[in-house]
Amino acid sequence: MAEGMVAKGLQDVVVDDTWICKIIGDQGKLYYYGYSIHDLAEHCTYEEVVFLLLKGKLPNRAELDQITRELKEARGLPYGVRDVIKSAPKGSIPMDVLRTAASALALTDPKPGDDSPEGRYRKAIRMVALFPEIVAADYRFRRGEEPVASNPKLNHAANFLYLLHGKEPGADAARTMDVALVLHAEHDFNASTFTARVIAATMSDMYSAVTGAIGALKGPLHGGANEGVIKTLLEIGEPANIKPWLAEKFKDKNFRLMGFGHRVYKTLDPRAIVLKKYSEKTGRERGTTKWFEMSNEIEQIMKTREKPLYPNVDFYSASTYFMMGLPPEIYTPIFAVARVVGWCAHVIEQQTHNKLIRPAADYHGEIDKPLPPIDKR
Ligand code: CMC
Repeated sequence: MAEGMVAKGLQDVVVDDTWICKIIGDQGKLYYYGYSIHDLAEHCTYEEVVFLLLKGKLPNRAELDQITRELKEARGLPYGVRDVIKSAPKGSIPMDVLRTAASALALTDPKPGDDSPEGRYRKAIRMVALFPEIVAADYRFRRGEEPVASNPKLNHAANFLYLLHGKEPGADAARTMDVALVLHAEHDFNASTFTARVIAATMSDMYSAVTGAIGALKGPLHGGANEGVIKTLLEIGEPANIKPWLAEKFKDKNFRLMGFGHRVYKTLDPRAIVLKKYSEKTGRERGTTKWFEMSNEIEQIMKTREKPLYPNVDFYSASTYFMMGLPPEIYTPIFAVARVVGWCAHVIEQQTHNKLIRPAADYHGEIDKPLPPIDKR
């Protein structure tokens, strides 16, 4: 291959077939198993999307009852994992705690070596059920509080808020979290999912694949951007500061505005359209639309630049979570709570049609160099 011919960052390289998710980047469209993200966000719960992603079809009433039961039965943080979370040094980064706890789930799995189709499905349900408990336990330990047990009356999203705050959420907050989880559940071959697939393709196990994926999600160019967005809004502080702040920052050509731009979408990310509505709605419910309005103003400025940039999923999720009273350090863990099902679906798909993922590189150094003895180097 001639020098300079590599596809940096695998941009636009098609690496495998998939049946799970389709993105049409120039039209801002996203589908899970053929269903539009707008329809899924409006009409489905996270449990329905979990079934869709793991089974490839929408559940009927009996199937939804069944998977809801399975998810509830898989709740209950094993003591070993709880101890891992509790023993994290003060000041640990929440994504590091989640990554470590996700890995520790393998040690408490009754059948860690069972990677049969049934075993993989059971592990997927277990991880989907336990991720909210891990994130909430860490959140509460940091505040000097004990974790609370899951509430069997509540669905996945409402229970997550209950685990965080120790009290039942209102219907609006529960629905907002449900929609956020649906929107973040899956996104084809993004960096964390591809990481999971690379690990799965060695025929390693689901816990290893998901643990690796969490490490990839943590980065500020991926899921870590939502924490960056709220830091940006807080740093700007007031609407009057937006224009001078942006003008100053964009003097540096390497500056990246968190929550903007996307490898695949060249227009508005459809998930941002939905989250924008929830950001405004949540602001109205909480009696302050300041963060929503500032976000909207930034969006308008960015789209009229010479090279327009559009919000991605992380942009309006940040102000939505902030107005729900959630602290910035758990925004990326919330992304993982949602995305774990997408990772698991891809691990299953990869291992069902497996081929080891082992690309080639374009080496630019010398070869066959004489090896000098140590005192002649
Ligand atoms: N701020 C400023 N400039 C940007 C941004 C941004 N957020 N995003 C892209 N650009 C510019 C970039 O400077 C480049 O300009 P030029 O052609 O003049 O060099 C051009 O747009 C193309 O950018 P790129 O970095 O080559 O595009 P990429 O596909 O490699 O990167 C990205 C995609 C998401 C890493 C990038 O847009 C970015 O860094 N965004 C900020 C971080 C962020 O919000 N990440 C969340 C992604 S969506 C949720 C998820 O899946 O995790």
